[in-house]
Amino acid sequence: MDYFQYKDGEIFAEDLKISDIASKVGTPFYCYSSATLKRHYKVFTDAFAGQDLLICYALKANSNQAIISSFAKLGSGADVVSIGEIKRAIMAGIPAQKIVYSGVAKTEPEMKYALEQGIYQFNIESIPEIHQLSKTATSLGKTAHIAFRINPDVDAKTHAKISTGKAENKFGIPLSKARKIYAETAKLANIKIVGVDLHIGSQLTDLAPFREAFSRTAALIEDLRADGHEISRIDLGGGLGIPYDRDEDRPPLPVEYAQMVKETVGHLGCQIIIEPGRLLVGNAGILVSKVIYKKQGEERKFLIIDAAMNDLIRPSMYEAYHDIAPAVMGRNEHEVCDIVGPVCETGDTFAVQRELQKFDTGDLIIIRSAGAYGAVMSSTYNTRALIPEILVKGSEFAIVRKRVTQEEIIALDTVPDWIK
Ligand code: LLP
Repeated sequence: MDYFQYKDGEIFAEDLKISDIASKVGTPFYCYSSATLKRHYKVFTDAFAGQDLLICYALKANSNQAIISSFAKLGSGADVVSIGEIKRAIMAGIPAQKIVYSGVAKTEPEMKYALEQGIYQFNIESIPEIHQLSKTATSLGKTAHIAFRINPDVDAKTHAKISTGKAENKFGIPLSKARKIYAETAKLANIKIVGVDLHIGSQLTDLAPFREAFSRTAALIEDLRADGHEISRIDLGGGLGIPYDRDEDRPPLPVEYAQMVKETVGHLGCQIIIEPGRLLVGNAGILVSKVIYKKQGEERKFLIIDAAMNDLIRPSMYEAYHDIAPAVMGRNEHEVCDIVGPVCETGDTFAVQRELQKFDTGDLIIIRSAGAYGAVMSSTYNTRALIPEILVKGSEFAIVRKRVTQEEIIALDTVPDWIK
């Protein structure tokens, strides 16, 4: 459930008319709802009532400072994958002691920074990486608390580009080698083994792959304990999917997911770390755009809007489906169109042959479920301005990232004297 609802045929974000925000800030823009963020966080934490849980919001889904601060206030920790994200988390008020550091290849300066900040846990992805961390921690006289990310070789049954838990993927250490690697790691200086980590993919709409992966990990933890390691934490990653198509999708509910977690790993007595991203922010954001032109091609009708693939890349990159709707309902006639942006690529398409209420030039259009992996994946391709992000709370709104103008973008370049 989200707080983008129609009242008298007009779409609102909480108590504000989207069209009023649009007339103040211009289109396109991202619009987030504070009440929805809060609700999603609460539904997720309530589902785990009675379990020892640390939520580490995966910043990569949406790392706007206002979004992170909102979760920090609710008590969330952070899952980060770069030094930039550590800085963002700390600046937004997440204590270092609630930060887990994932990421495929942490560099020495990144490790150094993380150790100096005193983060909670490093999720280690390879043997060379653990050796580097031991070296860096020793040089600083600090101890790094670590979990290895294991690759359980489970098919998450999601889009290939966001599937991470199969043997062929670059992530983690093979489950079959884990005992040997933990044994070797126990001998390393300034490293304290505390847990086991995994993350099998994103936008999972079935609990079965989670169940399989978590069960395999639980069995590994029992083996590791038998080998003498003190394993007190299990980090289950993120990945629980959200409904993108409101009429069709029924992903598992947080409460069903939490029950499955209890069944698969509850007996271990570990602290459970979960790194949800999309689930918390995906449906707390929409992309608001405007129809520039309608165009009749030889075979198809096109609705050309002022947002493009550089603003929201998910449809072109993952063939992702997003619900699209008019800001004002009420015209009964429907038509079938391709909804496209103005960028010079055929891939700049938000929807193919979608049946929607008839639009006119200048009409506002909303693209739902754009709160996760939207603004963070945007670019200035075609020298298009980075669009603003708006956060609504009740009847107030704030611009939480301003529009980055073409002039500001161009000013980042320099022309060397030898060209002038
Ligand atoms: N933890 C780790 C280690 C991750 O790699 C990810 C996402 C998460 C947590 C959060 O997963 P979530 O709960 O959001 O599914 N850009 C893609 C999604 C990439 C996900 C990458 N990793 C998209 O737009 O669908």
